[in-house]
Amino acid sequence: MNERKIKIAQVGIANHGRTIVEAIRASGNLQLVSCFDLNASANQKVAQEFEARAVGSYEELINDPAVDAVALVTPNHLHADQLRKAAAARKHVFVEKPIATSIPEALEMIRMMRGARLTLMVGHNTRRRQVFRKAKSLIDEKRIGKIVAVEANLSRPAGLQPGLPAWKADPTKCALLPMMQLGIHLVDTIAYLIAPIARVACFATNVAMPAAVFDSSTAILQLDSGIPVALTSCYVSADAYVVRIYGTEGTIHCFPLRLTLDLLRNGELRETIDEDFSAEGSGSYVLQMHEFGECVVHGRQPETGGEEGLRALAVIEAMVKAVETRSVIDVNSLLQELG
Ligand SMILES: NC(=O)c1ccc[n+]([C@@H]2O[C@H](COP(=O)([O-])OP(=O)(O)OC[C@H]3O[C@@H](n4cnc5c(N)ncnc54)[C@H](O)[C@@H]3O)[C@@H](O)[C@H]2O)c1
Repeated sequence: MNERKIKIAQVGIANHGRTIVEAIRASGNLQLVSCFDLNASANQKVAQEFEARAVGSYEELINDPAVDAVALVTPNHLHADQLRKAAAARKHVFVEKPIATSIPEALEMIRMMRGARLTLMVGHNTRRRQVFRKAKSLIDEKRIGKIVAVEANLSRPAGLQPGLPAWKADPTKCALLPMMQLGIHLVDTIAYLIAPIARVACFATNVAMPAAVFDSSTAILQLDSGIPVALTSCYVSADAYVVRIYGTEGTIHCFPLRLTLDLLRNGELRETIDEDFSAEGSGSYVLQMHEFGECVVHGRQPETGGEEGLRALAVIEAMVKAVETRSVIDVNSLLQELG
């Protein structure tokens, strides 16, 4: 490929930022030209390692005419303001999930990028994992018949470990922590696999983190098609990563690097098929960043653009409201009310 690489600058290089700079390097169509992080020494190190320029401020990063696009891998509550400045400087934007911390912010971000005819991609990488691409093809081929229900759990003990960034334990910056940070991956993926999420009930509590933080949560969701989904996400329990999709003719069990398909005949288990994806590594992030580059070059809409980011955020906001009001929240009504 002799095409010019898209010149990208990244803000936020620690933790998840590291995964994204590596994915940019592996993308084949993006070139990291500069980076900025409040942690200047860490920023210098990444710049050196990835042969990019360490810059001293966000303004310097976005006002560089050589930069085509910006990757925002910063705390959630900074996304909206950073995108606003990037759009004003006419840069395409890759922003990590969640797109923002509120529906009005997300809507403004989408309008701004659309109005300026700039590409906006939101980092919902999970649907690009091989296990979910395979699950999608099995569902579309009707291998498990009619879908009956879904059970899912994405949990991590991050809230029990030292070094949790302060913003994650601040509900004004990261409401309903486990769902905003973890559950949202499966919210987007379930909508992709089956149907949009229409209604939301949710229970959350504090078990082990400082008192104001919900660290344990379960939501009951209803898809547009009527199918019920139970989604659990905790920040203070052992790692869990599973999506089980139950159908009239079988069940798909999705794990991070493996899929198991149980097939039924007349309600009896007749066959189990296993598929292994252990070679995948961080491939979903590489695919995501490559797609971002392609969208910028060809003016295409990303698979997970602003609308998908908004929809996933709206489901999490509906969960927050459901916890507060102890009621079932309709996602479209919430979008209309806050839009
Ligand atoms: N897609 C995924 O799999 C995935 C996984 C983890 C995190 N994320 C998302 O990535 C984003 C970052 O998460 P994280 O866990 O790496 O957070 P983090 O707090 O660990 O790291 C954020 C980085 O941004 C820097 N930073 C903070 N404020 C800044 C500012 N004003 N200007 C420049 N740099 C600043 C920090 O110094 C730090 O290096 C979040 O939106 C999160 O939801 C996505």
